[in-house]
Order: sequence, then structure tokens, then C-alpha cells
Amino acid sequence: MDTKASASGRPPGRVRGPAESAVRIVFVYAVVAGVWIWASGIVSRELTVNANLLTLVDIAKGSLFVVVTSALLFIRIRGDFSRLQASADRLRESEQRFRRVIDVSPVPMTMSDADGNITLVNAAYVKEIGYTREDIPTIAELWPKAYPDPEYRRQVIRTWEVATEVSRQTGEAFDPIEARIRCKDGSDRTMLMTSAPLGPASSEQVVVFFDITERKRAEEAVQKSNERLERVLKSVVALIGKVVETRDPYTQGHEEGVARISRLIAGEMGLPEDQVDGIEVAGLVHDVGKLSVPSEILTKPGAISDTEYQLIKEHSQRGHDILEGIDFDWPVAEIVLQHHERMDGSGYPAGLAGDDISLAARILMVADVIEAMGAHRPYRPALGLDIAMAEITGHPEKYDPQVAAACIRLHEAGRITV
Ligand SMILES: [Fe+2]
Repeated sequence: MDTKASASGRPPGRVRGPAESAVRIVFVYAVVAGVWIWASGIVSRELTVNANLLTLVDIAKGSLFVVVTSALLFIRIRGDFSRLQASADRLRESEQRFRRVIDVSPVPMTMSDADGNITLVNAAYVKEIGYTREDIPTIAELWPKAYPDPEYRRQVIRTWEVATEVSRQTGEAFDPIEARIRCKDGSDRTMLMTSAPLGPASSEQVVVFFDITERKRAEEAVQKSNERLERVLKSVVALIGKVVETRDPYTQGHEEGVARISRLIAGEMGLPEDQVDGIEVAGLVHDVGKLSVPSEILTKPGAISDTEYQLIKEHSQRGHDILEGIDFDWPVAEIVLQHHERMDGSGYPAGLAGDDISLAARILMVADVIEAMGAHRPYRPALGLDIAMAEITGHPEKYDPQVAAACIRLHEAGRITV
């Protein structure tokens, strides 16, 4: 398809080039000359009875030939030149319209040629970024103005050159590149930029800019706010853990220790970072239900009765009930509810087994046992990590094998401390 003719709004037409026109003219000339020489020779010999007149007749028919062919050539050449002129006018008009469209576009754009000359800077570019074509006649002069930091400039140029090379080969615009541009007024703006060659035969390329400065600022503000909220949440959660520990001084540091070990195991198992965070939070508050257990039972030295043990066992459900109303990003209440369940169904409160127990709770239960057995308690010395690990590996029916395997790897690497 003739893209230039289409761009002008006219239907694509057949326009002869100069070479084709020249061939046609020469062809017409040769045919007319041949026919003339052949036909006029026969006619003049037939009609000329006096041989003395033959020279005059030859001069007359030669002159007539020149007049006729000159007239034909004039008509032919004038027609072709008119068509070529009209074609050039249409092309110029089409280019002017194209440049006008670019110039009035609300999107900042520039155009440059193969030699790196900037051939057009539209009004939106001047308005948003500030540089006119006089400020940046070439791309080489644009780089240091738009990217004053030499290292950042090198980085942008490298990325830009790779992208434009791909674009040149494919003829398509490349995926937008994000860059921080220094505007003429000295402010910095974050832009998405893309570029494409104007056509297969064109050495010019058009560059389109999209200002995302405000969007980036809003995203950064939301990110900072989220980080602050997360810090506040973790502080509050850690505080809840500390409150629990004040009622049960025998387990001081237990919540933090379980949270730390749970995080290590979840990370070792390759869980997504967000899930690892959730398991850590659940670890920090997993015994919050002990707030509802009388402190005399929690701090009672020596053996406890069956009734007292039943009361302590209720802490999983109580913890769940307390946490259920908090809108965590993770199922913290459910993890806490299940942290004393066991894979063989021998745990409490529901006696869940296997896959009915969430993976997070399977991690937490192992971390809980390791911390409880491995750490020192006021009423007994630490049993040690080896004994704690033996409890896990010695009861494959109770603990998730993959969690146990991750735990063994961490222990062997010396990464678990209590
Ligand atoms: Fe517990």
C-alpha cells in the first residue's frame, strides 16, 4: 500500500517515476520515428514521379517529422511532469499534515534523523520539558542537558541504544523505558519513553514521552505509608507477645524465638516473602490465648492437674478468638488455632491431621517445639538443640517431613539459635 498517498487522505494511485517516464518517452519516439521512416519512404517513392523533386520531398518529410515528434514529445513530457509535480505536492502536503498532528499532540514528542539531528520538538515537549529545538539541535547536545549525572547518562544511553536498535530491526516501537529527565527549569521529571522509525524507508524516528512523575510520587507515598503501617503492626504484635510473656515469665523470649525460627524454616523452604512475613507475625502472637489462662496456673511450679492442663490447652482457641477480629494480611488466627495440632491427628484443639493443617501451622508447630525444648527456662536448664531436633526427627508421624528436612538443613548449617 502507498502509505504516503494514504496519509494524505487520497486513494492510493499509480504514480510513474522518472525512469519509467523516460522509457515510455523513448519508446514512443522510436515507434513514431520507425513508422514515419518506413511509411513516408514508400509514399514518397510512389507519389514522386520527378526524381529531381525527391530531395525536396525528403527535406519536407524530415522537417514534418521533427515538428510532429516535437509536438508528441512535448505533450508526453508535460503530462508526466504534471503528474510528478502533483505527486510531490501531495507528499509535501502529507508531511506537513503529519508534522502538524505531531505538533498539536498533547503528548510530548520529538523527531530526529539518522545523523542525530533533532528535526522536530512539539509544543507539548516544550511545555512539559522546556527545551526548544534551538536548545537541543542534536541528540548529542540533548543527553548532557537531560541527564546531567555522567553515570546515569551512560546508563540511559546504553539502554536507549539497545532499544532503538531492536526497534530499527523490527520497525516497531519498543517497550517504554523509564528515565528521570532534568527539565530546562532545573526540575526532574520521571518519563516513560518509546520510539519507532517513521517507516521502512525513513531514516527519521519519532520519540514519544509519557510523564509519570505524579504517579511515581503517589506510589512512593503509598509504599512509605505501607512500610510505616507494617512497622507499627509488627511493633504492636511484638508488644502483644511481650504482654503474654509478662504473665508467663517461664517462657520469656519464647514468642520472639518461635517467630525467628519459623521465619528461618519458611525461608529455607522457599516460600514467598509475603507468606514468610505472615508466619513470622503468627509466631510472635501464637500464645496470645494464654492471656485468658489464670496466671497462677501458668506460673505454678511443679506438676499441674488434668483440669489445669485442659485450661492451658484452651489457649489455641482463645488466641484464635482474640486474633480473629484483626484484619491481618495473613490468616494469623487460623495458624495460631492450629499450632498445637499434629500430622497424625494427635494434637489439639480439633485433632486435625495431614493436609487439613495449614503449611504455616506445620512450620509453627516445629518451631514451637524446637524453641521450647532448645531454650533455657527458669525452672530447668536448656535441653539443647540436638535433643529438640531429635524430638522432630524421631516423630515423623507428627511433623511435616518437608518442614523437618528444612529444619535439619538449618541446624546442620548452624543457623538455628535459641
Ligand atoms: Fe502454644
